[in-house]
Amino acid sequence: MSPKVVLVTGASSGIGEVCARHLGDHGFQVVGASRRTMPDVPWAQIAMDVDDDASTAEGVARVVREHGGIDGVVTCAGWGLAGPVEQTPIADARAQLETNFFGTVRTVCAALPSLRARRGRIVVMSSIGGVIGLPFQAYYSASKFALEGWSEALAWEVKPFGVGVTLVEPGNFRTGFTASRRTVEVAGDDPYATAGAKAVGKMEEDELGGADPIAVAKAVEKVLTASRPPRRLSVGPSGERVGVLAKRLLPNRLFEAASASSLGV
Ligand SMILES: NC(=O)c1ccc[n+]([C@@H]2O[C@H](COP(=O)([O-])OP(=O)(O)OC[C@H]3O[C@@H](n4cnc5c(N)ncnc54)[C@H](OP(=O)(O)O)[C@@H]3O)[C@@H](O)[C@H]2O)c1
Repeated sequence: MSPKVVLVTGASSGIGEVCARHLGDHGFQVVGASRRTMPDVPWAQIAMDVDDDASTAEGVARVVREHGGIDGVVTCAGWGLAGPVEQTPIADARAQLETNFFGTVRTVCAALPSLRARRGRIVVMSSIGGVIGLPFQAYYSASKFALEGWSEALAWEVKPFGVGVTLVEPGNFRTGFTASRRTVEVAGDDPYATAGAKAVGKMEEDELGGADPIAVAKAVEKVLTASRPPRRLSVGPSGERVGVLAKRLLPNRLFEAASASSLGV
C-alpha cells in the first residue's frame, strides 16, 4: 500500500515542524505548509498563507495534484495575541481569528473532497486555551473555542463519509510561539497594565519551561493511525491535563478559585 499523504500546516516551526518530522519518520508522506519554506528538510514543502483564500486553495490543490490526494490534515498554523479585551483593537482580534480559526477552516474545506474520497482524518490543533478562557489572551482563547465548536459540528457532517475529526489540546510546549506572540501595547497607567503584565509574564515563563513538542507529534500519529480516533485529546504535563479535566467537571466558581494562581491572576 502506498504511504498515506498528510498535509501539516505550520510546518516551519514548533509543533507543526516536529509533527512533520515525526510523521515522515513513521511512514507518512508528509507535505509541510507555511509562509516560509525551510532548507534541508526531508518532507515536501509548499508556501501557503492560510490567511489568504487563493493561497490556501492553490496550496491544497497542488498537494492533491502532486501527491494524488490527501489522507490527513494536521492544522498547526497559528499564533498568539496577548492584551486586555477592552484595549485590543478589533483589527488585531480579527487578525487572530483570521489565522487560527479561518485559516483552519480554509485548509480543511479545501482538503475535504479528497478526505471524503479517502476516508481521511482531520487533526485540529486546539489548545488548553480552547477549553479554559485565558486572561489577557481572550482573542486567542476565542479562536480556539471557535475551533472546538466548529470541529464538533463538522465531525457530525463528515462521519457518514468515514472522515474522523480530532481536536488536540496541548498545554505548554517549548516552540517559536512565545517569540511570535503579538502583544497589544498599553500605557503604564492603564487600569489593566499591572495584571496584564503579571498574567502574560506567567504564561511566557510556563511556555519557555514547557515540554518538548514531540509528545504532541506522537499523539497526532496515534490519532492518524487509530481506527476510531477520539474527538478530543489533551496533551501535556499531568497538572495541565488535570486542569482541562477539572474545567469540564467542576462547577465554574470552584474551578475559577482553584485555577487563578496558575493563570497568573
Ligand atoms: N506552543 C504551545 O505551548 C502551544 C500550546 C497549545 C496550542 N498550540 C498551538 O499549536 C499551533 C502551533 O504553534 P507552535 O507552538 O508550534 O508555534 P510556532 O513555533 O510559532 O509555529 C507556528 C507555525 O504557524 C505558521 N503560521 C503562522 N501564521 C501562518 C499563516 N498565516 N499561514 C501559514 N502558516 C502560518 C508559522 O509559519 P510561518 O511563519 O512560516 O508561516 C509556524 O510554522 C498553534 O495553533 C498554537 O496555537 C501551541
